[in-house]
Amino acid sequence: MNLGGTLRINKFACFVLIFLLFLIIYWRSGGNGYPSDTSDLVNIKSILKAAIIAAERGGEVIVRKGQGIVRSKGKTKEGANDPVTDADYASHCAMYFTLKNAFPRLSVVSEEHAVSDSSCQDQDPIDVEAALHGQRQINYMADEHVYAKDVTVWIDPLDATQEYTEGLYGYVTTMVCVAINGVPIIGVIHYPFPPTTYWGWVSKKTSNNIPNVLYNKEIKNHPQVVVSRSHPGKVTGLAKKAFGQETSISSSAGAGNKFMSIVNGTNNVYLHETAIKKWDLCAGHAILKTNNGTVTTTKGNIIDYSSAGNAVVKEGILASLYDHDYYLKRLLATFT
Ligand SMILES: *[C@@H]1O[C@H](CO)[C@@H](O)[C@H](O)[C@H]1NC(C)=O
Ligand SMILES: *[C@@H]1O[C@H](CO)[C@@H](O)[C@H](O)[C@H]1NC(C)=O
Repeated sequence: MNLGGTLRINKFACFVLIFLLFLIIYWRSGGNGYPSDTSDLVNIKSILKAAIIAAERGGEVIVRKGQGIVRSKGKTKEGANDPVTDADYASHCAMYFTLKNAFPRLSVVSEEHAVSDSSCQDQDPIDVEAALHGQRQINYMADEHVYAKDVTVWIDPLDATQEYTEGLYGYVTTMVCVAINGVPIIGVIHYPFPPTTYWGWVSKKTSNNIPNVLYNKEIKNHPQVVVSRSHPGKVTGLAKKAFGQETSISSSAGAGNKFMSIVNGTNNVYLHETAIKKWDLCAGHAILKTNNGTVTTTKGNIIDYSSAGNAVVKEGILASLYDHDYYLKRLLATFT
């Protein structure tokens, strides 16, 4: 028996073990006074790029696949049909797993759920530089790191499904939204027909294709209010009562599309009186907010987009680029 040899090997093994232990501790601490576990951090700029790619992939799938079988998810509170198509599910797969495969630690909330089809998860990895088409200006923006646990991503794989089944493709969008601690920070709204992408990163900038809409203080005396085509409810009467008889009302489809009409100044107020889902709101909210617009519930409450929260905003919403306080005060006065 060679005790000496065994001892030497053990000493060596111990040394290696201790060395590795130190290495791990040093690596976990970041080694430079950075937050204690760097692997918990995600780069918001990378998420913005991935969000654009995910929204565009969803759009490509919708165009390529066609609607396929149309089913009903039931009726909305207002009695409108709530359809879902094969394209909703295919777009969900493309968008959800493009994001989830790239950022496994992010919590992603989608309007749809994965179908049993296992190929749903097999999405091509992101080649950010190749895929960014006309959005290269993002590369010049600064990196920003946050804790992955504070981030919730909301996706709507196909907004305006009802119109999509009617062949009214201009209302259709795919949306991705990044909320940090419940606050919407990045919004991406993509129109597949024809492919056009809009985005906003709050307190930084919007995509170049979003116009700068100037303030006009006269508008609040005769605002153009947009309401839902499929869920009109009593909202038209409410809008006139709140904002005056000079108010013009137009109805339009797709929450993402209605938000874009506020962002580009075609409409001044988006009013929705009944329950609405957060994946319909978050991306438009973020883009509007980037241009200093405001979104609250019709009761003036803020909307919390942290995943712990409920996905439904029961009180409806009031959104405007300018004069939100004024519109909200008028609206609240009609409820008392
Ligand atoms: C503004 O956005 C709406 C909704 O997307 C669109 O229908 C309209 O053509 C846009 N107007 C301008 C001037 O870009
Ligand atoms: C929004 O407000 C900030 C701070 O007041 C300002 O710097 C920025 O230019 C505004 N953005 C737009 C699009 O008006």
